[in-house]
Amino acid sequence: MVHPAPHDPVSDRWNGVDAYLTEMLVAEDDALAASVSSLAEEGMPEIEVAPLAGKLLHLLARLAGARRVLEIGTLGAYSTIWLARALPEDGRLVTIEAEPRNAAVARRNLERAGVADRVEVREGRAADVLPSLSGSEPFDLVFIDADKESNPVYLEWAARLGHPGTVVVVDNVVRSGHVVETDAGPQVDGVRAGLEMLRDDPRFEATALQTLDRKGWDGIAVALLV
Ligand code: DHB
Ligand code: MG
Repeated sequence: MVHPAPHDPVSDRWNGVDAYLTEMLVAEDDALAASVSSLAEEGMPEIEVAPLAGKLLHLLARLAGARRVLEIGTLGAYSTIWLARALPEDGRLVTIEAEPRNAAVARRNLERAGVADRVEVREGRAADVLPSLSGSEPFDLVFIDADKESNPVYLEWAARLGHPGTVVVVDNVVRSGHVVETDAGPQVDGVRAGLEMLRDDPRFEATALQTLDRKGWDGIAVALLV
């Protein structure tokens, strides 16, 4: 995350553009807004995806015709609501959250958004929960947004639990530019190892985009299971 000095002219401009594009293209209802404000109210980290990114996830799910979505890292369910609203009537979303308090807040937010019937919040470390999803119907879209150290593990599970044509999105692959550093700590190491896997593992075809929005300077990787 970038924490620019107040009134830095460049960040003022990108935040202005973020506000402009969000106002132009993203209609957030009360339930989405409440899921954002719940983070501060509950003392949770305010690291939900930006509204434009939430809508991108929603559109990717619709473009993929997704009926089954897997999310790794629920937080307050802001991105979960965007994804769940892309599902058809009989669609299902499984979202995994390690913090029981976050999971409780997420469940309330999903209820308020009217999508709780389509969403299963699984509490636990994703590395422990993911094996239990083997043998269920494969997922059409996987969104990875949890502890960055484990990105390669999560990509492995995305490949196993998906099918050719599954869309895989990884959040936070730029981290204020630190992704280019080889000594930036375990989170960046995890991001880099994930990107190497997207390059080297023949099950993936991937790209990545830098993003500059209200969450600062970061990026997403988007991959297709081939
Ligand atoms: C962090 C995690 C995220 O998923 C995010 O979108 C931004 C920041 C973090 O752990 O700092
Ligand atoms: Mg994130």
